[in-house]
Amino acid sequence: MCGIIGYTGHRPAVPVCIEGLRRLEYRGYDSAGVTFAQQGRLEVIKESGKLAELERALEKAGNVYNATTALAHTRWATHGVPNQANAHPHLDGGERVALVHNGIIENFQSLRQELADKGYTFRSDTDSEVLVQLLSEGLHHHGSMKEALSWTLGRAEGAFAIVVLSLDRPGRLWGARQHSPLVMGLGVGENFLASDIPAFLPYTREVVFLEEGELVEIDASSWRVYDLETLKVRDKEPQTITWDVQAAQKGGYKHFMLKEIFEQPRVIRDCLTGRLDAAAGEVRLEELDDLPDPERITVVACGTSYYAGLWGKHIIEKLARVPVDVTIASEFRYSDPIVGPGDMVLAISQSGETADTLAGMRLARERGAKVLGLCNVVGSSVARESDAVIYTQAGPEISVASTKAMCSQLTLLLCIALRLARRLGRFSDEDMETAAKALDELPGTLDDALPEMRETAQKYSRLYSEAANFLYLGRGWAYPMALEGALKLKEISYIHAEGYAAGEMKHGPIALIDPKFPTFALAMADELFPKVKSNLIEVQARGGKIIALTNPGLDLEVDHPWPLPHVWGPLNVFMALPALQLFAYELADYLGKDVDQPRNLAKSVTVE
Ligand code: G6P
Repeated sequence: MCGIIGYTGHRPAVPVCIEGLRRLEYRGYDSAGVTFAQQGRLEVIKESGKLAELERALEKAGNVYNATTALAHTRWATHGVPNQANAHPHLDGGERVALVHNGIIENFQSLRQELADKGYTFRSDTDSEVLVQLLSEGLHHHGSMKEALSWTLGRAEGAFAIVVLSLDRPGRLWGARQHSPLVMGLGVGENFLASDIPAFLPYTREVVFLEEGELVEIDASSWRVYDLETLKVRDKEPQTITWDVQAAQKGGYKHFMLKEIFEQPRVIRDCLTGRLDAAAGEVRLEELDDLPDPERITVVACGTSYYAGLWGKHIIEKLARVPVDVTIASEFRYSDPIVGPGDMVLAISQSGETADTLAGMRLARERGAKVLGLCNVVGSSVARESDAVIYTQAGPEISVASTKAMCSQLTLLLCIALRLARRLGRFSDEDMETAAKALDELPGTLDDALPEMRETAQKYSRLYSEAANFLYLGRGWAYPMALEGALKLKEISYIHAEGYAAGEMKHGPIALIDPKFPTFALAMADELFPKVKSNLIEVQARGGKIIALTNPGLDLEVDHPWPLPHVWGPLNVFMALPALQLFAYELADYLGKDVDQPRNLAKSVTVE
């Protein structure tokens, strides 16, 4: 998984590309590189490490401002360790063609062997270099770059988004995609190819989304899209992006993660706009109304989106009484799943590009199920390949650890539950009125609560900063939140944390409890509170220290109670989630961790 930006126009192309890479760092950041034509040769400057390393190398190289066409890449290693040789761009043996790639070429070993037998030599361990060498072979046979690309990529199995620069036409770029994202930005006298829109958003809002199996050719003043296989021209409609690049920047917060946590009241408001009619006491969800009443729902998702799905199961079953299964996408796709006509598969994905989620939804569609996508990125693969799509409208999420995107998913899952409950006649007018009023008040309540929540998170994170392990406990709706709280903590602080159903704790994890193994509990006002309280007494009996999210007035005695505002029952999750996020954030920041770009993780996992 990597970030690509290619530029051709009238500006110094290298700085444009480096700036673009900075906005794509969330896609991967273990090495980076850039190429451009200069004095009759292709310059390639690349470095392992973060983008700053590449910038240092560019400063040393000097004279990088003349080129008006360039191609750059930020890498998240799949084949080959993150070192300079494996960084992109890669050159063919004759150093006339440079290529950057995002994805995985599954048959790269046999292709590499075939090329090696013909005398090709390789400078890196990557599958991507095999593509550029194969392309030079293609150019021998086919002459034109388009034909050579069609031939080369026709032989490649797996996923790719590639962009190519050739010394023969140094003002031109070619791109193609299959199972990995690539978008084109259309400017005046300049054009862009990138993995994601923020890369070029300061320059243009006009974009063309490339589809599976498309090839594109751009120069400063023209662009054209072809079918990669047949090379027939395809008509494409540019679209205008309405969000601005400010949204993708930190806005005064120390980290994107903190900013994104504090954006959650706004996210909830945006999700509800046009959907919640508080005055009429109704929730509208046209995207859902396009689909028939489901007999059963299967949620397919990964990571935080999967945990959102687990909460979705709780709320949809509770309010709408529709049975819901929730499956990790990487398990679903190979499980020979029992889905078919009459089923609704709900694919939840912040990025809309997660490879396993996409594979799961494709399988479900093949088997006749209807797929409803819940995703945050307009025009993403999940959005395009679903029968209907609900956009979560959280805006771009930059921090690798997902926060506001989950909040938006939970908001929409609640809307789905309410809408289905209404459609199926399982939620009275009176109940709906209560729900609509509570939802209407939610953003304001959360806005008011966040500053104090952060202070509490700061205070408690200092107290527990030496813990090597954490157990997160919850029951009912709070169990998925215990899982998410533990995931957040391990993702960004690298402290081991485990989420568990509080009632199950006595069947194993209780053996771990001692004064140095703290518990983070969710013990809020709901029908399971007395049960959770008993579970916590079991922890205390083993000398375990406890932080507990709770509500004022509840009878709970723990070391560090953390009272949160009272809200309508199903909305407790919107108070608990930011508290869990802030605790992980404050602890990781206190420990000096790289909060926005934790080690080994990437924002958008477009490989299996
Ligand atoms: C990666 C990210 C997680 C995210 C997961 C699923 O692992 O680091 O934060 O939850 O992918 O991503 P999606 O875009 O499908 O929600």
